[in-house]
Amino acid sequence: MSGELLLLSGPNLNLLGERQPLIYGSETLGDLVDRATTAAATHGMTVRHRQSNHEGDLVDEIHAARRTTVGLIVNAAALTHYGRSLHDALLAYDEPKVELHISNPLAREEWRHVSVVSGVVDATISGFGSAGYELAVHGLAALIAERTASE
Ligand code: DQA
Repeated sequence: MSGELLLLSGPNLNLLGERQPLIYGSETLGDLVDRATTAAATHGMTVRHRQSNHEGDLVDEIHAARRTTVGLIVNAAALTHYGRSLHDALLAYDEPKVELHISNPLAREEWRHVSVVSGVVDATISGFGSAGYELAVHGLAALIAERTASE
């Protein structure tokens, strides 16, 4: 397997390591990207990581990744719960897609129980903390391999 995958990080994830460490752990976003990059290398893939606090930037990144990446992983952070233009951009991205969360939003406040992302991705990984970044890459690689085998 080869190719580049897009790892997208939504609002406030740039503050990981400092922000609510009891929920999100002590690793920085850079540490999590390193985990994903190392996991991707075991499948012969590379990682393009983009973080933004602005929904439109994330939409632009998804558009730019169409036809140039083999799959994507998105931790949309709070936009998960209301980002409808992100939802529509994901619909326009045809490669395998995985939604990722560090925490388990379903075990938190009620407003986090709604995801506008879940219905437009192939799979969701949540509640595994930092290890979710590796699990998401391995899961995405399995989805890509499955799709390639059926083509
Ligand atoms: C999060 C969960 C979201 O509800 C929250 O707004 C985040 C992070 C997670 O990774 O657990 O910022 O996506």
